[in-house]
Amino acid sequence: MSVQTNTAKEFINDPYHLFRQLHSHQAVQWFQFFNSEGWLITGYKEAEAALKDSRFVKEISNHVPPESLGTPSETLMPVFNLTNNMMLFRDAPHHTRLRGLVTKAFTPRMTEKLRPTIEKMANYLLDEMKNKQEHELIADFAYTLPVMVIAELIGVPNEDREQFREWSDAFIKFIDLNTTEADLEAVAPQLKEADTYMRNLIKAKRIAPAEDLLSGLIAVSDSGDKLSEDEMVATCLLLLIAGHETTVNLITNGYYLLLKHPFEMEKLINDLSLVSNAVEEVLRFDPPVLLTTRWISEDLEFSGQALKKAQVAMIALGAANRDPAVVDNPDLFDVSRTNIKHLSFASGAHYCLGAPLARLEANIALETLIKRIHNVELSEEPTRRNNIIFRGFQALHFNGEIT
Ligand code: HEM
Repeated sequence: MSVQTNTAKEFINDPYHLFRQLHSHQAVQWFQFFNSEGWLITGYKEAEAALKDSRFVKEISNHVPPESLGTPSETLMPVFNLTNNMMLFRDAPHHTRLRGLVTKAFTPRMTEKLRPTIEKMANYLLDEMKNKQEHELIADFAYTLPVMVIAELIGVPNEDREQFREWSDAFIKFIDLNTTEADLEAVAPQLKEADTYMRNLIKAKRIAPAEDLLSGLIAVSDSGDKLSEDEMVATCLLLLIAGHETTVNLITNGYYLLLKHPFEMEKLINDLSLVSNAVEEVLRFDPPVLLTTRWISEDLEFSGQALKKAQVAMIALGAANRDPAVVDNPDLFDVSRTNIKHLSFASGAHYCLGAPLARLEANIALETLIKRIHNVELSEEPTRRNNIIFRGFQALHFNGEIT
């Protein structure tokens, strides 16, 4: 088709420019997208249908002969073994089993119990920021808060959090669309290190169990055949990374949007009960996960297109959220918008397991920032992180008075 992306940098700075052009074209089209090509799905109805359709799969290896799949290099093999054991990259029945083992820990009811702890952590972080002249939201607040929460839930020592950041950066590079084999090889050692770290922690918890998710998983694994040690390592690392990577960006994208839209910020200052609606609008307007992928498991007809087995579908959640067919005035950021619809936590079998936790953290974070920081302004325009799928900033510097 004639619509073309420019450079990755231009796309990362404003993906919605391309999405607008695609909306006026076709909801599903074959597209060359940086280092990947496949069916790009940008319509809301079509994206939701694909996410709920069991012919759009995560594990193509179940549908094609093994010789048609390449073999990873020796460096990459352990990393593929790790990611292949994560529920995010599996289909039923393994996906159902792995997800079922941890679902209970993340229900809205269980999550709500964490509210007082998260509020205390948010206020503690702002107290620490008070003593500084210059403020940087990510390092001082938006990264630390979700990491502290997820580390405590899983039972991982919070002191090691700087390492989690490196592993997380490596992991998201691994699933980016603009990554080369050389990039993957470069980040493989960090993921190997994360794997070893988790195995050592499991050894220690076996000797001294605690009241945490990891100890619970060890008990399940040791009492039967429901969970292998490799799957336990992969599940904990996935939760550790997914549990903070995206929430950091939701908080930061949200605060940035409010700073760029002072009228919207004013609405929240005047009525804090609007914050939860604002979180949904941030999720819709600039989601932390812009896009997700699936394989096509069999030849099929979809939205008037002939999709072939083993092709890739790239489901643009961020485009679906701004589809003019389902959202009025989609490019307007409005925290008082009613009936907000978005696919930012996906849909179907892989619907984000941590959505209630992410919502709770973002609500508390934004409310605390709004209540305690006054006369705030950006001290410089922030730079986006270099990733096609995960939308966030490298840093967010601002000036303001913290009370
Ligand atoms: C704003 C924050 C978050 C966003 C935008 C987000 C987004 C997503 C999306 C889009 C998916 C589906 C990916 C796909 O279908 O391919 C997903 C899956 C997942 N998310 Fe989140 N997430 C967030 C926070 C969290 C948190 C706090 C946790 C912590 C537990 C978490 C854990 C997971 C897990 C385990 C999966 C895989 C679920 C499965 O495969 O069944 N996420 N997330």
